[in-house]
Order: sequence, then C-alpha cells, then structure tokens
Amino acid sequence: MPQRRLFVTTALPYANGNFHIGHIMEYIQADIWVRFQRMQGHEVNFVGADDAHGAPIMIAAEKAGKTPQQFVADIAAGRKPYLDGFHISFDNWHSTDAPENHQLAQQIYRDLQAAGLIATKTIEQFFDAEKNMFLPDRFIKGQCPKCGAKDQYGDNCEVCGAVYAPTDLINPYSALSGATPVLKSSEHFFFRLSDPRCVAFLEEWTQDGKLQPEVANKVREWFSVRTNADGTQSEGLGDWDISRDAPYFGIEIPDAPGKYFYVWLDAPVGYLASLKNLLDKRGVDYAAYMADPTLEQYHFIGKDIVTFHTLFWPAMLHFSGRKTPDNIFVHGFLTVNNGEKMSKSRGTGLDPLKYLSLGMNPEWLRYYLAAKLNARNEDIDFNADDFMARVNSDLIGKYVNIASRSASFIHKKFDGQLASNLSPKSKTALDNILQEFTTEGVSFDREGFISERLKEREFGKAIREIMECANLANQYFDACKPWEMAKDESKLFELHEVCTVALLAFRQLSIFLQPILPTTAENAAKLFGESSWTWADTSVTAGKVYEHLLGKTINEYQHLMQRVTPEQLEALFEPPAQTEPAQNAANLMANTLPGGEELAPTITIDDFAKIDLRIAKIVNCESVEGSIKLLRLTLDVGEGKHRNVFSGIASAYKPEDLIGKHTVMVANLAPRKMKFGLSEGMVLAASHADEKAQPGIFVLEPGPGAVPGLRVR
Ligand code: MSP
Ligand code: ZN
Repeated sequence: MPQRRLFVTTALPYANGNFHIGHIMEYIQADIWVRFQRMQGHEVNFVGADDAHGAPIMIAAEKAGKTPQQFVADIAAGRKPYLDGFHISFDNWHSTDAPENHQLAQQIYRDLQAAGLIATKTIEQFFDAEKNMFLPDRFIKGQCPKCGAKDQYGDNCEVCGAVYAPTDLINPYSALSGATPVLKSSEHFFFRLSDPRCVAFLEEWTQDGKLQPEVANKVREWFSVRTNADGTQSEGLGDWDISRDAPYFGIEIPDAPGKYFYVWLDAPVGYLASLKNLLDKRGVDYAAYMADPTLEQYHFIGKDIVTFHTLFWPAMLHFSGRKTPDNIFVHGFLTVNNGEKMSKSRGTGLDPLKYLSLGMNPEWLRYYLAAKLNARNEDIDFNADDFMARVNSDLIGKYVNIASRSASFIHKKFDGQLASNLSPKSKTALDNILQEFTTEGVSFDREGFISERLKEREFGKAIREIMECANLANQYFDACKPWEMAKDESKLFELHEVCTVALLAFRQLSIFLQPILPTTAENAAKLFGESSWTWADTSVTAGKVYEHLLGKTINEYQHLMQRVTPEQLEALFEPPAQTEPAQNAANLMANTLPGGEELAPTITIDDFAKIDLRIAKIVNCESVEGSIKLLRLTLDVGEGKHRNVFSGIASAYKPEDLIGKHTVMVANLAPRKMKFGLSEGMVLAASHADEKAQPGIFVLEPGPGAVPGLRVR
C-alpha cells in the first residue's frame, strides 16, 4: 500500500486547568489510532496545543494575580508528566497564543473578508462599568425570570432548566464586581454563515457520508431551514459573532482597534499553528505540505464541540481557500464509576496524576479504555471492578500468561533456544491460532480483521478478537499439558515445539497490541531480540515472518506486567483530605443522628411483616475475583439447600472472619442477577450514611443459641 500522509489532532484543551481523565481518554483514543497508522508505514504528524484565549482564562489569571501569558505558561509547564506518563506520542505541543496562530488567524480572517463573508452589526450587551468590560453570559447572574431562583447564570436556570437571554434576568449583577450591569452597544464582526454559499457548502460537506451517521444527523438539525411536522419553521444557521471588545485575551482583529477574535475563531486555527511550528522546526515548508492533495487531515474531538468542528471550522477553511478536514472523529464522554458526574470534591473523579503516582501502569488504562471504545459517539464508563477484572483476567491472565509460562520452559529446558524446526503438526497448530477464524459460517483472516477494526476505531472489537486469539493460544498450550511433557524425557522434543508455538503466538499478539500497549510491546520485542514492530511483522503466511526466529536464543524473560490490586483502586478513589465546606456539611449531617441520616418515614406493623428476616449460618465465604467491594457468602437458612449472596462488605471483613458465624438475612428479597452471579438475599449490616467519611461496616450477629431458619420479628 502506498504511504499515506496524515495530519491528526486532538481538541485543544483550555489552558485554565490541568488535564482531567476525559482529556486523557481523548488522547489515548487518538494515540492508539496514530500509532496504528505509523505501524502501517504511513507518515503521521500528530499535534496538540493549549487553547489559551478567552474571557474565562483572562479572569482566572487576574484572580491568580498573574498576566494571562504567565498563567497559561504555568499550565503548559504542567502538561508533560501527563502526556509522557500515558505514552501519548504527540509530535508537537504548542499554544494558540503563539505567533504562528496570530498570523494564521489574521490571514484566514482577511481571506474570509475578501470572500465577502464578514459583516458588522451593532449589538447591545451587558457591560460592567466598574470593570469597564462587556460581560460574557457566564459572568452575569441574577434571578431566574421563570421560577425566581436566585443566583442563576445569564443563559439558563439550573433550578428550573429555563433558557433565556441575560437581559431577561431579574436584578442582574456582574459576577466579577457585583455591579448592576448596564446595556451598552458596540460594533461586532460576524462570519456570514447564513450566506447561501455557506449553507450550500455545509449541506454538502456535512452530509456526504464522511461523518459518523449520528453526528451527521445532529448537524443537519442545526443548519437546515425547514418546515417542521407541526408547521413551525426551523431557523437554520445564523451568522456567527466572531468579535469581542477589549479588554480580552486574544488576537487582535486586523484594522479594527480594540476588537479581538472570539476565542472559538482562533482556537481551531491552533491546529494549523502547531503543525506549522513543527514543520518549521524540521525545516519543512508548511505551505507546500498543506498544498499536497494527498494530505489527509483528521480531528479527534468530544461530542460537546461538534458545531465548531463540523460547521464553523470547515466553512472558515473552505472560504479562506484552504483544505478542509477529511473527517472529524467524535467520541462520547467518559464517566467514572457508574456514570456519576466527575467531581473532585466527592472523590469520584479519577485523577490521572494520582493514578500514575500510585505506580499504576498507564497501559492498564490504555487497554481498558480501548476495550470499551468504539467508533460511535457514545459515553463510556470507567468502573473500578470492571477495570480490575479486564486487566487482571484478560491482559495478565490471558496475554502475559502465555509468555511467562512458555518462556520459563524454554529457559529451563532448552537453554533459552527456540525450536529450530516446526513439525507440520505444530505449524498447523500455530496457523489455527493466528491465521483464520470463522464466525457464523464466514471465515476471516485474523490479521485483516483486527487491522480493519483498528483502522475504523472499533478498538473494543479489535481487542475482543485479540483476546479470542489469546484464548486459542492458552487452550492449545493447556491441551498439550507441557508440565507433563517436561517430566517425560521422550516428550522433550514435543515440549520444545509447543513452547515455541506458544511464544510465536505471543509475539503476534504483542504486535497486534503494540498501538495500545507501546511499552509492553517494546519489552516483548526485546524477548525476541527485536525492537518495536511494524504491521508487516504480523504476516505469518507460510511462516515467512517467524522463520528467522526458529533456533534463535531468546532473552531472559522479564515480567511484563503486574496485576492491579484492590488497594491501588481503593487509594485511587479515596477522596482528597476534606476541605472546610465539606467538613461543615459533615458536621451538619452528624447533627441529625450518629448514622448520618434522618429516620425514614413511619411504617405500619404490616409493612414490617412483609420482610421475612431469618437467622442464617455463613457456611462459606470467599472474595470475588474482579470486585473490590463484594464478598460471596454461602448461607444456610435451614431450607435443606444453600443460598448464594453477594454482600458489599469486603472492606471490613476477610472471608475467614465470617465463616461459621451466624447472621440475619432478608430471606424473601427477589433474587438479583449481578455481574458475578445470582444473589439470593441480603445480609444485614450497619454502617454510616457516608461510608467514606465514617468507615466501618458491622454485620449483625444473633445472641448465642440461635439456629438457621428462625424468623426475626
Ligand atoms: N478548548 C476547547 C476545544 C478547542 S478545539 C479547537 C475545549 N476544551 S476542553 O478542555 O473543554 O475540552 C477538550 C476536549 O476534551 C474536548 O474534545 C472535550 O470533548 C473533551 N472532554 C472534556 N470532558 C470529557 C469527558 N468527560 N470525556 C471525554 N472527553 C471529554 O473544549
Ligand atoms: Zn428557574
């Protein structure tokens, strides 16, 4: 295949804070794709930058007592540990406040002006006379015009959900100074997206099939003028206000003193600025590079910034006579532990630097996210139990396991040398693992299937197939019973081939996983005395690629990856030390009852009688693989059979503490299907409402003499 030229970006993060786990997810997604393309032999320039401009950053800088330039420089200085830590292979990281961006944004604007697509209009906006500046919507607060709630933002009410203009607020005030804002008029610059040329262009650009279908549908709603089913008219695309008045941290509009580009005008131009900066450093001509008709341009972004990337940005590029993106790849949002909104104060967030500082392997996260990612605009959830299960049972239990088991025989029994020949039987075994698989009667080439999935960003599907392949390798290895062969002199020859086949399969799996696990793959390559692989190394057809390995002495096997421990996850999600407001809240709660919650509403004796509580004996108890919270209890309730119950008490009890004890269970609770099996009831235990702040779980125990099956009333 001829080499392709790819220019790839992720969205440019606002330079007003450190990266959070959502940013890291986006970078991991893009990085896996980029590494895969590089392995295919394509030329990729993968760049990012800080999005430095805008009113919120200017105001945050002022609060921090810094110039905006100093403020964003300080944020930029903290980027490297995250990017290096998670192996994100950007070729360049730049800033939208860099000279390249000033120059490019102004040139694009001039080109749009020459195309007749810039208009001016005088509009009235709220102005803070004390601060001497126009107020962005977010910095105007007041009472909701619908429900009267106090302290609502200028664009929508968080209490009743109403959407309105800042001028609709009752008793509006400036969130910056507290002053009552006054209406003041000013001339603004607009990009005339309502121009028929723009509408025609965008109809074509967004609907020609390149965008993800769900994205294309959403976009159509925004720009098409149409008559709805109920006879009302949808408005279509309005002109876009691209100017802001001084004081503003941004890029000056040419020939318009005191006017600056709205941050979203110069932000995507930062993609080009970062690329230009990279090419300049390399002595490559930017204009010539961009003029190459074979150049492909892709932007990875989240679902919240689709309008900017599928409407404004392509229109800016097209009508300024520039190349438009080949595609925009939109991903959903990452949530943590069951879709709870990420909140640092509540400790449900996943702090990327904390993750690294706990010694957690960045490739666990890369693997886990890849396993969950697909090509659609869908949210995904980081779940601690699921994370541990996938890493420990798939990645370590299936993939790493193959190498550790077979390499140890090769070293112990064969001086570290691979078999110098494979019998036809062993070759067939290897082919069966690596070459082909059949689903619903259709046969696929495994390498082809996996590379297609990676190419189309269906990472989860690729991983499923790679793990299927790992299963086959493990099954083959187990079926050969190498540990028995090792005891029988006459079977050593066969053992040698079995371990060689397993290691060759492992090598192939490592190549497949290299875009996802770059460091692990590099270490795996070292085992074979190779450096990192290209995709061409996967071709096992007729043994061409592995023949050079037969008879070769491999290097000492170094353990490739540790398992995740429950303690690490526990520590990762431990809330940070309580801040004062949180302590106040805790005190308030404690004032109600020591348990931290109010008494539940009164019930009748009949209500209570519905609950069948029984004495149960805990005949067995064990930890649950893949869960840090749960214990699996086997209970005797005197029914002549045992019940299986999962209970979230693993933080307080070791299994051996509970075996043989009696407790109280809800015996008539509807059975519940859980990820780990059916739970047939519930044992009773006491705990504080805020388990994190007041740890401790206390399983109920009856007085001496109680036997299984007695009813508690
Ligand atoms: N500065 C703009 C983008 C300008 S692009 C020319 C911006 N910055 S951001 O920091 O708010 O977001 C950067 C990227 O992170 C966006 O693609 C956004 O969708 C993504 N994410 C923010 N939170 C996210 C999650 N919780 N999950 C996944 N991605 C998320 O928008
Ligand atoms: Zn309201």
